[in-house]
Amino acid sequence: MRGTMRTEIVNWDPARGYREEDLNRAAGILRSGGLVAFPTETVYGLGGDGLRPEASRKIYAAKGRPSDNPLILHISERRELDALVAGVPDAAEKLMEAFWPGPMTLIFDKAPVVPYETTGGLDTVAVRMPSHEGARELIHRAGVPVAAPSANTSGRPSPTCAEHVREDLAGKIDMIIDGGSVGIGLESTIIDMTEEVPVILRPGHITEAMIREVISEVRMDPGLAASHPKAPGMKYRHYAPRGTMTVYEGPIERVIARINELAAGLPVDKVGILATDETRDKYPRGQVVSVGSREKRTIEQGLFGALRRFDELGVEFIFSESFFGEDRGEAIMNRLLKAAGQRVEHLPS
Ligand code: TXA
Ligand code: MG
Repeated sequence: MRGTMRTEIVNWDPARGYREEDLNRAAGILRSGGLVAFPTETVYGLGGDGLRPEASRKIYAAKGRPSDNPLILHISERRELDALVAGVPDAAEKLMEAFWPGPMTLIFDKAPVVPYETTGGLDTVAVRMPSHEGARELIHRAGVPVAAPSANTSGRPSPTCAEHVREDLAGKIDMIIDGGSVGIGLESTIIDMTEEVPVILRPGHITEAMIREVISEVRMDPGLAASHPKAPGMKYRHYAPRGTMTVYEGPIERVIARINELAAGLPVDKVGILATDETRDKYPRGQVVSVGSREKRTIEQGLFGALRRFDELGVEFIFSESFFGEDRGEAIMNRLLKAAGQRVEHLPS
């Protein structure tokens, strides 16, 4: 469904510096309760004033997101954190020192100033300081913590370029800042710091091993494996292309053979295959989309764009290779298996 609002689109070319007038106009929109989509290093965010209940309500409406799914507050400097939270544990201090600004979100007990509309009714709040310079400059000028979920329609893959945002939100928000393709391509790692031992609620570019080097104790949310994770948003159908997707796991030659066998019995235009630069030529039949290169480690960056591509192609069945064991494999497989509704076929070696 298209909205009726005029959505201004602004171009950011970091090579030439961010234009003062654009930054100030975008910051003004945020300050006055409006919505601006902007690039971060992970994915594009849909920003609004995180301390204003009505701005949060607008975010939920524009995304079509259930209002019990909390938003992340984005800040531009460490000292902005203190007003938003009830306290900062030592372990959090160490993690921020190591990974902020960057693709890591921490959960704290919230301060009263943070409205329940932003936290989805929870007494905790998620906070992140992005490393994207333009994003931080925008937040700084807005002068408020910026609530920003990924800038996609609820249920669709997160946006990794401004065109994805336009597809989902044009006509529904005040401004889209086009800063080109994002650097990372998957959403931030989320760590719950309110537990005795910190818990990774969403795997991301900052891996468990990286976290363990800074704080010796951390654990994965057991619900991630059981598919009933603790982060409220992780339980919703997510990232899903419109076609029915299945992931094939096992030795790559077996995976290719199995996918080709299945594709052989189906109409060629209805079959989507999620392959890599290294394997794309091995599938004679179907709409083959390369997610990136295993060798060059670009799968993380290409995943969400590839999932959206299947919707454009209008395929009904999607057969996907698997990426366990690759660089950032945990984060990649978390998104891929969600997109596939956890449908995975294990092929013996
Ligand atoms: O990289 C990112 O984190 C991007 C960019 C824009 O910063 N943002 C993002 O936001 O991915 P969103 O809203 O799409 O995902 C936030 C996730 C949801 O699964 C939500 O349930 C969880 O964070 N979350 C937020 N606040 C929480 C809280 N207080 N306790 C547990 N989970 C929380
Ligand atoms: Mg999201």
